[in-house]
Amino acid sequence: MDCRGLVRSLRGFTSLRGVRATRSALRRRWIDARGLPARGPERARVPGAVTGAEPLPGGGIVRFARSELRIRVVVGGAVFWGWDGAGPEPSYALADGVPAPDPRAELEPDKDGGWRVVSERVTVEVSRHGAVEVRTPGGVTLRRDLPPRWWEPVNGGPARWAQRTEVPADARFFGLGGRASGPRLRDGVYRLWNTDPGGSFGPDGDPLSITMPVQLVVADAGTHLVFHDNSWDGRVTLREGEEGAGSGHDRKGSCEVRMDGGPLRCWVIVGKPARVLSRWSRLTGAPAVPPSWALGAQHARWGFGSEAEVRRIVAGYQERGLPLSAVHLDIDHLAGHRVFTVDRERFPALPELADELRRAGVRLVSIIDPAVKAEQGYAVYESGRAAGAFVRDGRGREVRGEVWPGQCAYPDFTDPRVRQWWGGLYEERLRQGFAGVWHDMNEPVSFAPFGDTTLPRSVRHDLDGRGGDHREAHNVYALAMARAGYEGLRRLRPDERPFLFSRSGWAGMQRYGGTWSGDVSSSWDGLRASLSLVLGMGLCGVPYSGPDVGGFGGSPSPELYLRWFQLAAYLPLFRTHAAIGAGRREPWEFGPAVLEHARAALAERERLHPYFVTLAHLSRLTGAPYVRPLWWGSPDDRALRECGDAFVLGDALLVAPVLERGVDRRLVRLPRGRWFDTATGQGYDGPGQVLLDAPLSRVPVLARAGSVIPVRGADGLLELEVWAPAGGRRGGGLVVADAGDGWEQPEVERYTTRLVDGWVRVKRLRSEGSGPPLRRVRVRGLGAA
Ligand code: NOJ
Repeated sequence: MDCRGLVRSLRGFTSLRGVRATRSALRRRWIDARGLPARGPERARVPGAVTGAEPLPGGGIVRFARSELRIRVVVGGAVFWGWDGAGPEPSYALADGVPAPDPRAELEPDKDGGWRVVSERVTVEVSRHGAVEVRTPGGVTLRRDLPPRWWEPVNGGPARWAQRTEVPADARFFGLGGRASGPRLRDGVYRLWNTDPGGSFGPDGDPLSITMPVQLVVADAGTHLVFHDNSWDGRVTLREGEEGAGSGHDRKGSCEVRMDGGPLRCWVIVGKPARVLSRWSRLTGAPAVPPSWALGAQHARWGFGSEAEVRRIVAGYQERGLPLSAVHLDIDHLAGHRVFTVDRERFPALPELADELRRAGVRLVSIIDPAVKAEQGYAVYESGRAAGAFVRDGRGREVRGEVWPGQCAYPDFTDPRVRQWWGGLYEERLRQGFAGVWHDMNEPVSFAPFGDTTLPRSVRHDLDGRGGDHREAHNVYALAMARAGYEGLRRLRPDERPFLFSRSGWAGMQRYGGTWSGDVSSSWDGLRASLSLVLGMGLCGVPYSGPDVGGFGGSPSPELYLRWFQLAAYLPLFRTHAAIGAGRREPWEFGPAVLEHARAALAERERLHPYFVTLAHLSRLTGAPYVRPLWWGSPDDRALRECGDAFVLGDALLVAPVLERGVDRRLVRLPRGRWFDTATGQGYDGPGQVLLDAPLSRVPVLARAGSVIPVRGADGLLELEVWAPAGGRRGGGLVVADAGDGWEQPEVERYTTRLVDGWVRVKRLRSEGSGPPLRRVRVRGLGAA
């Protein structure tokens, strides 16, 4: 146990909550001791030698002495394979079942006694002993999975398995959900078990609330995404390769996935990053588009404590002319922390408050925890019990855990009936006037001074009719909760897009909403971790996220707060938040200089609002995250793969936040092409590095030459900021105008730009019907011309 763990455990034993948590942890142990038999001796197995094959649409089945491998290429080019009869379903990740097989992909014998499936974009080679190699059509190897190994308990039970993969020496790993130490994942072991870090984490915090068996592997040979569709506890061991500096002795990179149970199956998608994410979002679902107000500045706090304090904060923004789009109420507005209640003493007239704020353009967002206080007479608990909604142990007894309200029961969101019941409860939140919801503590958490801070592993779950236990359901618990909430909100308020974001989740969670970075530590390390989390989540298909500006606990210095604010102004979720008892987070609490610089960041965010709306819609249409690593457009640029301290926002902007104390200049690595410093108008040519000023008043932001950025003009109307294309080159951009918070899908406006005789020519491609109105254009980057 590390020092923090020890302190946590000692503290755990002394407070009342600690005593209860200790009791709960002992109970968890006791339940598992009875519910999960010891594994006992195991038998190891490998596939053995190939014995035959059977072609099927999109691929076929290759048979081995002790296993079989099912391969299917689907329309669009994603490849599925599963061992031991595993098919692609059932799956919590897939949005609309399995896409149709690609009729052109065929299984054919290989000259060495193996088999291969050849398709338009990818070739999958299966060796005689069950190694699986993925190649580009040009024959370059992207990954080679060695024959898998299984360990089967002799007395029955789930088999553990391990799959080792080799990748090119120059390959870099990204993803695996939200990882604080990224975005590039260095050598190490990454656990796949959604975990509440317990109040504070920095770059070494691992695992965190969202773990996903989704990796993006970027190499000179090409980019691919691999998804091991398995929600059990597991570990991924990554080792980057090494190039032998021309000696020809490269050491390949490697990745080993080890799972405690569940199917050995995966999806692989090959192509440029944009294509990979587009296919991934087709497979697992288009990202929900947040309502337009959720792309503005938001303020949260655990511990507002009263309506008066909420009004005071909102007035603070208004008096200073600072934009604010939403205020988030944490658990302190609930009666005794009970979900779907209101503390009427502190918040006597919540619907009126919500109404009043709404008229001032400020929405209210409510926290929602999954755990329901197990208390007779509490309507939510009683109705859940009557509906049989709460998880039970193997002997049919309701299982309790310990969270904020005390002893709690946990809805089984993997049961469709329970999702329906839970979704209906959001009616109460809408009645209180809330416009959106914030799912928390849904790893799910049960406080414990030792062991896992979650439910016993033997707890039973419905798993959508299949039945199983928490070992399989744990990682998809929050995903299923998000589904329940999202579907409930759609039923209750069909005309508005739900706003939902969730601390925990799994592959596919973007269908229901976004996430935030959880309790990131209030430190420079925490600031860096915040960016890593947003980038990593985006590459796993979850584009809407952002950190607690200023960090969760403690009191950031004015400089740290400001740099955090400046970073978050360019992230999809832009929200200040703090723990109860932590220092202030309002922009005016850090002195007049910080206030003025924060005001500038807020103004820029407002100006860029149409760009954020565009990026949100483009995410829905293409799966591309708003916030992308620098290598997004040039994955073959090795220097960019190493670079985690800057990002591109959409296609047009490169943002280089300040992540270190005392810095007023920083090196910025540029992808290829021409880039303009938006503050000075100075142009730079990439690839390369430039040293740019980063005074406290701003962070470096560069615009790509030729880009078209929709912005809010001084009169509030949408206008286009066009950056001059480099001579002889074309540029362009897409614009999606805000069509409100309903379901209307606005037209995508397509623009091209060209430099002709010193003039910038901006053209909109013809659209159907009368098309959108003509847009005002402002050209930048032409110098004095
Ligand atoms: C943990 C969450 O991460 C944090 O944001 C929230 O303030 C607390 N729970 C209290 O609800």
